[in-house]
Order: sequence, then structure tokens, then C-alpha cells
Amino acid sequence: MNDKIVLLEKIHPSAVENLQAQGFTNIVQVPRALAGAELIDALSDADAVGIRSNTQLTADVLHALPRLRTIGCFCIGTNQVDLNTAATLGIPVFNAPYSNTRSVAELVIAQAILLLRRIPEKNARSHRGVWDKSATGAFETRGKLLGIIGYGNIGAQVGILAESVGMRVCYYDPESKLPLGNARPMPLDELLRQADVVTLHVPGGASTTNLLSAERIALMRPSAVLINASRGGVVDIDALNAALRGNRLGGAALDVYPVEPRSEKEEFVSPLRGLENVILTPHIGGSTEEAQENIGREVSDKLARYLSAGTTRSAVNFPEVAHQQKEVVSRILHVHRNEPGVIARMNALFAESGLNIVAQHLQTRGPIGYAVTDVDAPIEQSLMKKLCGESAAIRCHLV
Ligand code: NAI
Repeated sequence: MNDKIVLLEKIHPSAVENLQAQGFTNIVQVPRALAGAELIDALSDADAVGIRSNTQLTADVLHALPRLRTIGCFCIGTNQVDLNTAATLGIPVFNAPYSNTRSVAELVIAQAILLLRRIPEKNARSHRGVWDKSATGAFETRGKLLGIIGYGNIGAQVGILAESVGMRVCYYDPESKLPLGNARPMPLDELLRQADVVTLHVPGGASTTNLLSAERIALMRPSAVLINASRGGVVDIDALNAALRGNRLGGAALDVYPVEPRSEKEEFVSPLRGLENVILTPHIGGSTEEAQENIGREVSDKLARYLSAGTTRSAVNFPEVAHQQKEVVSRILHVHRNEPGVIARMNALFAESGLNIVAQHLQTRGPIGYAVTDVDAPIEQSLMKKLCGESAAIRCHLV
């Protein structure tokens, strides 16, 4: 396939391998983030671009790239792309929301075991030459109650792994969720009162800021441990600090913080530094080789499917059309303003050309409509011109 794909910022080699295996040969790799004129120049003839978190695809940049058809964010976050502008220009944006789910879940289970066995303290003492063999306050995870707050992708995986080491699992989620394994839903305050290990897997934002407030931390058992690998603002860090220093909590493991250093050069500052029953990790819950490899494969798959078949399933800013194998001669991808009459006018153009529509899938999202039309005949350039020139059309392609 001739589509040009530019991959910036040292994306994992699994992406190129996957794209090549699917027949894409025109791939250009740039090992760093680009900006300004250099970025526009590098992408001027690209059909697709892959970025990580350091390349800013602003409205100005996107408007300067009329050829660009799709964007892959080889990471979880998509703040670096102006998603609304991309949508209004007919550019679906993809990311990798699940690639590091398992990495986070494994770390949480490890932290639960280490905290219940008081390993952080034993480790610190051993480093100081103290030989503390006491079993006091060290517990197995088997039979203990794990309370999961936020039973989404990561929370549910944590629950499954926890059961495999013999834990009992309960969860709190405001949405109704299918419980996996033997997990059971529980009201939040009851979960906090009962659980031996409480782990947070909620989204960030105003609705979850200080979800674990001083009052809620006070509900926890004094022997219980708290794990937060979700977002820093979810726990009232001063209240947690007070509870730990006052021996009102058994320990904690934190991977995320209200304020995090922006680079390795900045010092990590936290009131919890120096507490021996606390594991502090630098936001690496999802940072594993496997996660990077998975991200490379997951996002490159999404780009390949869009370029070759128009699939937009799981796009973050775009109407979602599920994958359908292209088994016809021509497939037309038509992005248009979501207004009455577009499909009727489009289909009239097909009929005028004597073309029979084999299948058609339409989805809309806000102001954008997206129609994928299969026709079992070649499409003349003159018809493509009319479809692309249709009054509500934003862009259209033949794949
Ligand atoms: P998800 O969207 O699949 O699950 C979040 C769940 O939280 C949903 O089921 C939602 O209904 C629930 N929820 C929302 N508000 C809630 C509330 N007030 N109380 C209880 N539950 C609530 O998200 P996913 O993928 O499981 O990620 C969870 C968190 O983990 C996110 O904050 C994400 O940013 C973070 N994360 C951290 C990583 C790390 O390196 N430490 C890596 C990957 C994700």
C-alpha cells in the first residue's frame, strides 16, 4: 500500500513490523518530537502520523496538513492533539487505552503483597544492617478482602489477579458493572470499613478529586493498606500523611501524586518521603516493555484498519464504524457535516452513475457524519469529484 505513514518520537519497533506485515511500505521514522515548520514539513505529504506525548498537533498544524487522514497517539493521553479541530477536518484520532492495563494490575498485586508483609520496612531495616525477623503485623494476602474503587479496565483486571492469589474481592463503581470472577459490588463507605487492601482505579478530574478525603480515610481499618495508581488528586495527600504518621493506617503504595516532576531533572517532593511503610514509585504503573510493544501494535493496527478499510472503532474524536473486511471492488469513506439529506444526495450520485450499493454504514457524532459505502464496481474519478464536492462533504476517499 502506498499510503505514507510518518512515525515520530521513537515509537516501538512493533508498530513498523505490524504495518509492514499488513502491506504498508512507505514508512518514515523520526526519532524525536518535531514542532513548527519542521513538523509541518515532515508531515506535508503524510497520510497518517504516529506520535507520542511530545508532538503538539494544534489547530494551526492540522490546518496546514490537508493531506493528513488519520493520527495515532502511541500512548494513552490525547491532550497533545486538538481533537475537535481534527474531527471537523475529518481526521480520526486513535490511542491505546488498554495496552498497559495488565502492567498496572500486576504492580498493584505486587504492592498489596509487599505492604501486607511489611516488606518496605523490612527492606529499609535490612539496608541499615538491622536483622528484623519478626512476623508481627505481617500477613498473607490469601483470604484478605481487596476493595477496588473504580471497577473499569484496570480495576476489573486487578480483581481477577487478586482472586488468583486467594483474595476476596469487592468493588465500588457508580456505574453498574458486570462482576468478574467472584467479585461483588459494595457501597463505598462499607468497602472502606471492611477491606484489608483498598486500591483506586478511577479517572481523574473534578468528580474524583479528594475522593479519599480525611473522613473516608478515617473509615479504613488501622491495619488496612491503601494503593493509588490512578490519579494523584484522588487522595487527600495531607490526610493520608496524617493517618500514616498517626498509625491509623497500615501502609500505602503510591504511583501518582497531586504534583509530579515534569522531568527527571526536577526533584520529587512529597510529605510521604521517608515513611518506611510507604512505597513510592514515579508514575510507572503502566511503564513496561510489554506495554510499549502492545501500544505499538494496537495503535498501528488502528491506523492500518482506517487507511485500508475505513474502520474508526475506538477513535477518540470521531463517529465509530466497526471493522468490515473489504470484500468489494470499491469502498468510499465519506466524512461530512451532520445535516439532513446528505446520504440521500450521496446515494443519488451513485444511482446516477448506475452503481449498486452493496453495503452502507453511517455513524454520526456531534457535528460530524461518517458514511462507509461499498460498491461492487470501479469508481470513476468524476464520481469521486462529485462526492467530495457535495455541499456538506468534509472529505472523501476511495480505499
Ligand atoms: P476506566 O475508564 O476503564 O475505569 C474507570 C472506572 O472508574 C469506571 O468504571 C468508572 O465508572 C469508575 N468511576 C468513575 N468515577 C468513579 C467514582 N467517583 N468512584 C468509583 N468509581 C468511579 O479506566 P482505567 O483504564 O481502568 O484507568 C483507571 C485509572 O488508571 C485512570 O485514572 C488512569 O489515568 C490511570 N492509569 C494509571 C497508569 C499509571 O501508570 N499509574 C497507567 C494507566 C492508567
